[in-house]
Amino acid sequence: MIYLDNGATTYPKPRSVINAVNNAFVNGANPGRGGHNLAMRASELMYSARSTAAEFFGCDDPSRVIFTLNCTTALNTVIKGVLKEGDHVVISSYEHNAVLRPLEKLKERDISYTVARVADGDDEQTLMNFRSAIQSNTKLLVCTHASNVFGVRLPVERLCALFREYGILTCVDSAQTAGIVPIDLKGSAINYLCFAGHKGLYGPMGTGGFVINCGRIPDSLTEGGTGSNSEQSAQPPILPDKFESGTPNLAGIAGLKSGIDFVNSNGIDKTGEREMQLIRNAYKALEKFPHVKLYTELPDSEKNVPVLSFNIDGRDSEEVSEILNKRYNIAVRAGLHCAMLAHKSKNTLNTGTVRIVPSVFSTENDIMRLCSAVYNIK
Ligand code: ALA
Repeated sequence: MIYLDNGATTYPKPRSVINAVNNAFVNGANPGRGGHNLAMRASELMYSARSTAAEFFGCDDPSRVIFTLNCTTALNTVIKGVLKEGDHVVISSYEHNAVLRPLEKLKERDISYTVARVADGDDEQTLMNFRSAIQSNTKLLVCTHASNVFGVRLPVERLCALFREYGILTCVDSAQTAGIVPIDLKGSAINYLCFAGHKGLYGPMGTGGFVINCGRIPDSLTEGGTGSNSEQSAQPPILPDKFESGTPNLAGIAGLKSGIDFVNSNGIDKTGEREMQLIRNAYKALEKFPHVKLYTELPDSEKNVPVLSFNIDGRDSEEVSEILNKRYNIAVRAGLHCAMLAHKSKNTLNTGTVRIVPSVFSTENDIMRLCSAVYNIK
């Protein structure tokens, strides 16, 4: 099988990740919930994973790395934990439903939002559009680091610096960039960085988190047992316990640590550039086919991530994906990719798009076979 659906989750997972997950099951009990060897070993593993993630994102304090079920839970926690009645939020025109839907829900609490249009490749215009969206009650900027559908990168550092000038908190969704684009929170204007563990970080599904890079600690969404301060009825305010009630996904987090080690050992710059080259090659081949429609300029390493969307004239994207799967054994994702706003901005809400995303395991041959299959589907 040729797997080009790494935007949904990377597959296969590295052998080292599978071994780490297996080891955690064989050698781990409930971390922070017992004084015996298995529980203590599990606590050490949690701390080691937290330290690895903190270092990876340039955060000095591992306790500020909060593990969650996925990037969606991380975004919900930050958004709902920071905003109060009457607040306003600015988001980008490329946001995932993981941002849009919590904000729609928050309308019930009199919290409003404005969508600022991203001008592909024109950072100055993008900054102007975001600046115009700021209101006197704007409390938070939430923006994706890159579109999960069209691969367009946003100038997140400049946007966050702009919003910081206005005293507005900033949250970046790095679901599509963590592990592919270097992220360094030291000196950064990003206040909250949300990440998925199972995409570019090569961890298991069911892992993700956020890093708190400022003094404003959000309210918790879930309270319960943390293994700490158990004599108190109130949720402990200490980090990361405040946000990590209940038994954690030890095996998943062990796998996530191993995934980050894998990314580090491959070299993030080298891997990202290689995947960009694969995407550029796909683009150059597909743009020659008269029956194929592309939605961006030739992908550029500074302005894009290795994610490419296209359509075939007269065919529904889901139908193309089905043909690729059944006839050519090629896995892609079609449809709306849980990103209604992104499709709205490119007028592809009716058709969706066919999306390809390579990983470190993808080859030039995979791309050639995909292009040859697309050529044959007329
Ligand atoms: N958000 C993931 C995607 O883009 C699942 O496919």
